[in-house]
Amino acid sequence: MADKNNIPRLAVFPQTADVNKKGNLAIGGCDSVALAEKYGTPLYVFDETDIRSRCREFKEEFGKRYPGTIVSYSPKAFTAGAMFELVAEEGLELDVVSGGELAFALASGFPANRIHFPGNNKSREELELAVRERIGHIVVDNLPELNMLSNIADKRKVDILLRLNPGVDPHTHKHNATGIADSKFGLPKADWDEAVKTAMVEYNLNVDGLHFHIGSGLYEYQPYLNSLDEVLSYAADIKQKYKFKMNLLSIGGGFGAQYTVDAVPPTVASFAEAIIERFNSMCRELELETPKLMIEPGRKIVAQAGVALYTVGVIKEIPGVRTYVSVDGGMGDNIRQPMYGAVQEALVASRPADKDTKKVTISGKYCEAGDVLIKEIKLPELNAGDILAVAGSGAYCVPMSSNYNAALRPAIVFVKDGKARLIRRRETLEDLMIRDKEA
Ligand code: LLP
Repeated sequence: MADKNNIPRLAVFPQTADVNKKGNLAIGGCDSVALAEKYGTPLYVFDETDIRSRCREFKEEFGKRYPGTIVSYSPKAFTAGAMFELVAEEGLELDVVSGGELAFALASGFPANRIHFPGNNKSREELELAVRERIGHIVVDNLPELNMLSNIADKRKVDILLRLNPGVDPHTHKHNATGIADSKFGLPKADWDEAVKTAMVEYNLNVDGLHFHIGSGLYEYQPYLNSLDEVLSYAADIKQKYKFKMNLLSIGGGFGAQYTVDAVPPTVASFAEAIIERFNSMCRELELETPKLMIEPGRKIVAQAGVALYTVGVIKEIPGVRTYVSVDGGMGDNIRQPMYGAVQEALVASRPADKDTKKVTISGKYCEAGDVLIKEIKLPELNAGDILAVAGSGAYCVPMSSNYNAALRPAIVFVKDGKARLIRRRETLEDLMIRDKEA
């Protein structure tokens, strides 16, 4: 039987990934080849044990260094009813970014007072929904939003956080840098004072604290420390100037996940260690009362828990150029390679332990030259009909999927202890046409 220790790539697959008696890749005790057969491909498989253990890891590692840290899951990374339920069970809060995510969470029974809502261009309707539902905090992004919100809040005291853009480079892909000065997100430094002054005089807004989120996919903790320096110094400043009391500070999400065997991000523990140490020392130095702390991880909770299964179709060998292995999905269900140059690992589901012998490009089936899932990977010899399991597919793949080329979006299953449950059925042609028919 194949020894899983001889498969280095398993390190980026879900924690329960294994090779079963048949020699197939198993996730959550379920045979991946059998899953592909039963539910069809492309199929997104999420290891429930992996997700839960990462929720707990964030709570424990931050909580033991700074008791009471609120872990607010960012569902934009993976939005699903079953996920909202899981996250509620694990005692996390939520960081939604749209009226859609908010409505979805509420419909899934997520408690409104544990939901927080950033977003750079919220509509009046979205703010009205948030106020009506009495969510935890509206994270105000800009001055026009502040004015709109104070109109909507009417006589109610609404809890808000002010999102400050600290002007810090997070050293990540430029599409994912949200806390640099040249960004549409958060209050630019020039507006900080006006926002604080305005918000504090509005009788129906309660400025509960401050917020920043500097980017996604961070492999360093230094940018968090630089942001803490900026924002905590400012908090001390406005404590003096305006008697501002910061009850809560959110430092956003952004914690990088592991996608390849070689590029290893800091662990949750080391992110927590560095961040809490700087947070405490800055608060001490500035004589600030330590506020409650909130973090908003999305990617690191789900990225490695998700595996996408595809069926290999046409293999095109272009002598002296490249071998294209096309699968039955691609940019419609995972646009991260074309969009961010993302790199992912894969295994052949029926032969995960076989030797890698051939360098190939994994391409999709969409009518676009850039429709690539994995630019270059060495795999065992592939044949049409093989099931390819792509790791690191849990974050920002399904939520960014589209119907390009009238593709049907994939089904999703949760696996745990040898059992699989369908949490979202595959889209049908009927789904695809229904809105046109009803228009
Ligand atoms: N909080 C706020 C305010 C955010 O804007 C985000 C992500 C998060 C938390 C969660 O960040 P995470 O822990 O997941 O890094 N589509 C891109 C990622 C976009 C992230 C947007 N904001 C990708 O696939 O790389």
